[in-house]
Amino acid sequence: MNINIKKPDRYTVLKIIGVYAIFSCLWIYLSDTALGSVISDPALITRISVYKGFLFVIITSVLLYQLSSRYLLESRQLKEVIKNKDQLFNLLSESIMDAYVSVDMTGKILQYNEIYRSMLGYEAEELYSKTYTDLTPEKWHSKERKIVEEQVIPRGYSEIYEKEYVRKDGTVFPIELRTQLVRDDEGKPSIMWAIIRDITERKQVQDELAFKTQQLEEVNQSLEKRVEEAILEIRQRDQALLLQNRLAAMGEMLSNIAHQWRQPLNSLSLHTQLLPSEFKHGGLSKEYIDKYVDDAMLIIEHLSSTIDDFSFFFRPDKEKVAFSVQHSVARAIKLIKASYDYNNIEIVMNCIDDHIIQGYPNEYSQVILNILSNAKDAFLTRKTVNPKVIITMKVEDGRSVVTISDNAGGIPDEIINKVFEPLFTTKGPQGSGIGLFMSKYIIERNMNGLINVRNNEVGAEFWVKV
Ligand SMILES: Nc1ncnc2c1ncn2[C@@H]1O[C@H](COP(=O)(O)OP(=O)(O)OP(=O)(O)O)[C@@H](O)[C@H]1O
Ligand SMILES: [Mg+2]
Repeated sequence: MNINIKKPDRYTVLKIIGVYAIFSCLWIYLSDTALGSVISDPALITRISVYKGFLFVIITSVLLYQLSSRYLLESRQLKEVIKNKDQLFNLLSESIMDAYVSVDMTGKILQYNEIYRSMLGYEAEELYSKTYTDLTPEKWHSKERKIVEEQVIPRGYSEIYEKEYVRKDGTVFPIELRTQLVRDDEGKPSIMWAIIRDITERKQVQDELAFKTQQLEEVNQSLEKRVEEAILEIRQRDQALLLQNRLAAMGEMLSNIAHQWRQPLNSLSLHTQLLPSEFKHGGLSKEYIDKYVDDAMLIIEHLSSTIDDFSFFFRPDKEKVAFSVQHSVARAIKLIKASYDYNNIEIVMNCIDDHIIQGYPNEYSQVILNILSNAKDAFLTRKTVNPKVIITMKVEDGRSVVTISDNAGGIPDEIINKVFEPLFTTKGPQGSGIGLFMSKYIIERNMNGLINVRNNEVGAEFWVKV
């Protein structure tokens, strides 16, 4: 509501007095002059002056009445407007959902609504004797003073801020408010008013949320820890299996070493046995001794290199490295060669492309060895005639593919899907059923590759893609 009423002030009063004075002066001067020019009898002039005086009083009274009643009307209208505005303001402050309070610049409470009163638990009128600092816990005083000095007074309003109030019964509760400033006609700060909201519920929800979040974080952390522990345990178990598989291979390798060493040891012992008879027949020339030493050294170097091969194979791979697939396959072949030779198994290596891959070279050799070892077992149990393994190495779509096929008759269809399962074996107590499971783990989990098997016309065909 916006009503334009001019405020009756000192200027209006002066205006009335001014009009009255001018009229009086003009009356005295003009009426006396006019009377003097028309009438010359002094006795008559005196009599008429008396009537003139009465007339003056009547006219000025009417004039004064007119002027003052206009003045009174204006102030009555103004009072009406102020009353209306007050009523409107009260209506508004009572109908808003939040608490309202206004204070003077010392903080003394001037006006408030019902919500404000009931929020603080005071009886009607009691609050007029209080200041807003009386209702605020001590710890907020300096902070709020700073807000008034730095925001409300220079700018006319504050940001929304949070603090606490104390109820009449002493309980403390959180509130949120924004303070506004009113200036008087001379521009001096005169009143501050604020819309205040009780945020107890919101704080409770926030606290609960924070508590729940913390609980959730704790659960998450302990869950993460448990998952980590479980993963570690699984890894350790996998490592144990890997080791078991290698130890099993080692048992087999020992018999391979025996095969590999038999022939060179034989020739060394033969050479050594010949020494006394050569000596007897005077044939121990310097050349003979030199040749003997060279031959013996060659054999010993060969023996030592087989030991190196085996010990290298049993060294665990610590971290991923770039290695040649062909070298890793060749190492596996070298390790099993003696026992293949012993059992007359032919092995053909067909390297179309070599490839350098990232991973664990010894684990890769272990996979090839497991497959070759299974082929050897299949040949022996099935008594294959002309047993033969063909290893082909090539590159497909930038990845290395090694296929290992045998002619041992293949894997029965009923079990071909199970051969990579842990502990699956058809070899009774001789087999542990770890070989292919471990091979799959190494290729697919440790090197992000793929391993699979199918039967061809003559036997099983494994392929390893990394
Ligand atoms: N080349 C193959 N020809 C026929 N059967 C095979 C061949 N390779 C694997 N198999 C079958 O797959 C099964 C699982 O092989 P895997 O290497 O996992 O275990 P295992 O050889 O029985 O025992 P180990 O743990 O000692 O290696 C074998 O028992 C065998 O029946
Ligand atoms: Mg096996």
